[in-house]
Amino acid sequence: MPIHEIRHPLIRHKLGLMRRADLSTKNFREMAQEVAALLTYEAMKDLPLEPVRIEGWAGSLDVEKLAGKKVTVVPILRAGIGMLDGVLSLIPGARVSAVGIARNEETLEAHTYLERLAGQMDQRMALIVDPMLATGGSMVATIDLLKKAGSRSIRALVLVAAPEGIRRVQARHPDVEIYTASIDSHLNEDGYIIPGLGDAGDRIFGTR
Ligand code: PRP
Ligand code: URA
Repeated sequence: MPIHEIRHPLIRHKLGLMRRADLSTKNFREMAQEVAALLTYEAMKDLPLEPVRIEGWAGSLDVEKLAGKKVTVVPILRAGIGMLDGVLSLIPGARVSAVGIARNEETLEAHTYLERLAGQMDQRMALIVDPMLATGGSMVATIDLLKKAGSRSIRALVLVAAPEGIRRVQARHPDVEIYTASIDSHLNEDGYIIPGLGDAGDRIFGTR
């Protein structure tokens, strides 16, 4: 499956502001949600619809509504929380399945510490949200656990993706489509994305 780099001018502009080291926590947070909403709009453009007959002001007519079970948004804690409201602003009825994963900063291994999934995962599209796809360890661990829970339709939204992480996810889960605001250059020796955003969790939660 392809990776989708969404090069919309509004996204490019907001991401450019987010890369500034002097951007305040408040502004970083707001822009993470805004870019998440813009990515959601793009990632959901082929959601299935079904016809429904309604009563309108001039009589009955056929309109369309989203078909099937509600989407479940899967924020990877903690930084994924920083995109959640942006996603929910467009799909407010979505269930939220929280997955807690922390990357060991020495080994870069992903450690799962929380899993609170919605019911009937096999009948929902799962939309993973995490600002950073770096080595891909956290994303692969999340997709592994979603598939174990029955998910068959999975997409991922990330603000910034490194080529190394994209390759890892595509090698293990070629069926998962990734939407990102930017494919960046590479990882540095500490596993941080260059140019990237720095530590997204710290910037969103103000814990730097
Ligand atoms: C960050 C980020 C991703 C992960 C990416 O989270 O939000 O989840 O690292 O790195 P990877 O692709 O190499 O796995 P972190 O583990 O720092 O936790 P936090 O969200 O609690 O800050
Ligand atoms: N996690 C982050 O928050 N930033 C990176 O660049 C890599 C992992």
